[in-house]
Amino acid sequence: MNTANIQLRIQDQVAWVQIDRPTKLNALNKEVLSEIHQVFKSLKTNNTVRVIVLTGSGEKAFVAGADIAEFADFNPEEGKLLAKTGQEEVFNFIEQMNKPVIAAINGFALGGGLELAMACHIRIASSNARMGLPETSLGVIPGYGGTQRLPKIVGKGRALELILTGQMIPADRAFEIGLVNKVIPLAELLPSAASLAQKILNNSPFAIDQAIQSVNASFDETKNGFQVEIDAFGTCFGSDDFKEGTQAFLDKRKANFTGN
Ligand code: COA
Repeated sequence: MNTANIQLRIQDQVAWVQIDRPTKLNALNKEVLSEIHQVFKSLKTNNTVRVIVLTGSGEKAFVAGADIAEFADFNPEEGKLLAKTGQEEVFNFIEQMNKPVIAAINGFALGGGLELAMACHIRIASSNARMGLPETSLGVIPGYGGTQRLPKIVGKGRALELILTGQMIPADRAFEIGLVNKVIPLAELLPSAASLAQKILNNSPFAIDQAIQSVNASFDETKNGFQVEIDAFGTCFGSDDFKEGTQAFLDKRKANFTGN
């Protein structure tokens, strides 16, 4: 399913989602956000897909932020609605996906672009990538979860430094502070994402879904993460994947998981 601004390719259980608005450095306007929501909604229930890789088109940008031209004349109520709708339909939606989402950051990931990468479960970056939350330079703050996710990923002090200065950091620095898991040359970015996806594909999709929800619960103050983990752990024991995984171990063979 391709849309006006998204290229989607599904191959060998991996969905490659590419934001494709290169003339605006893949900036997120309403249309792009709505298409991202539609694509992820369809991938959520697509049983042929077990891992998703999200990247940007071109060699310059992952996503250079929310579309500044679109919100320049918004009033406070419109601003609130923009953040709320975006968070619910895209950023939280991706974080709560039932399958892993890997951000392959191929260039600028600024503002909403970095927030999008942070909503993904794993981030890797090409060496030319540059990241930052420059919103305060525009007189606004990150509104797609940036003030919440960045401190959890890199710590409060580093997050505040990035948000208050609005400065961009290079990929190597992002790696040093734990914002991305790996930095590789641009030409190796997607192969590296594919190899990461491959490692995940060896494991039980059922357990992976439970693991994502459990880890997410540790960042959700409305939930007791330990209790979520106990429940999810127990739930796994009722799955076909658990029976298959343990039996395959005992039989000394590779497990053939169905995700059920
Ligand atoms: N919103 C809307 N349009 C954007 C955009 C954004 N966040 N980021 C880039 N664009 C557009 C530019 O306006 C330009 O469009 P034009 O050719 O019609 O004028 C096009 O994308 C190319 O960008 P340009 O600024 O010419 O590229 P550059 O290489 O000189 O600079 C950046 C690259 C990323 C440093 C610069 O585009 C930038 O600072 N973008 C905004 C980043 C930002 O503040 N994001 C947070 C938003 S909340």
